[in-house]
Amino acid sequence: MRFIICEDYEGMSKAAADILAAEVLLKPNCILGLATGSTPIGMYQEIAEKKLDLSHVTTFNLDEYYPIKSSNEESYHYFMQENFFSKVNVKKENIHMLDGEAEDPQQECDDYERLINKHGRIDLQVLGIGHNGHIGFNEPNSFFRAQTHISNLTQRTIEANSRFFERIEDMPTKSLTMGVGSIMNSKTIVLLASGKEKAAVIKELQKNKVDPQIPATILTVHRDVIVIVDKEAASLL
Ligand code: GLP
Repeated sequence: MRFIICEDYEGMSKAAADILAAEVLLKPNCILGLATGSTPIGMYQEIAEKKLDLSHVTTFNLDEYYPIKSSNEESYHYFMQENFFSKVNVKKENIHMLDGEAEDPQQECDDYERLINKHGRIDLQVLGIGHNGHIGFNEPNSFFRAQTHISNLTQRTIEANSRFFERIEDMPTKSLTMGVGSIMNSKTIVLLASGKEKAAVIKELQKNKVDPQIPATILTVHRDVIVIVDKEAASLL
């Protein structure tokens, strides 16, 4: 695990966009794993400004709330369209996201898992991190879930993410998420964190101790992880 400490959010976003751009230049038909949350927004902006040709790229998003309509402004479908897909030339048929409106959520997870495997390994997986160490919506637990699954959001996640919803009751309490299997199977992983409220969980990554109660710690046994943080998120390292 390598740490890149940047001056600020902008520096973190630029560094992440540069890595992603390099991946696309070296492998135009690469498979990208994409994340949501406030942290990668700057990276998406930077990539859009680079005017890269993403027409051969395939994307898989990590997660989606459940249930949620894709027209809901807080859905990850809406987020991705707004912050990224509307600004770049990824082909619609190459974009893959878990469906928050699926009638049978378990079937949706199984189909998504199969689809990722059919495409092979993700070349570059972008991750944010929750305050509780979640990656995607792999929440703290006594064990890791390898496969795409339905996840019950923890109270801490509901409180943290409800800031985007008008009322806390509007926030779904479940999600569909890629499991740690596909994440760990990715060739390269770039994890982004910004702000002092992420400093404690970033510190946990430095301990090299895998603990399912802090899901991101599994990344410490992956051979190619780059953690890009701003000074505040790095303040306890
Ligand atoms: C959500 C997403 C995660 C993301 C996390 C952090 O819970 N499911 O993938 O990493 O939020 O969000 P933020 O970047 O807004 O702190």
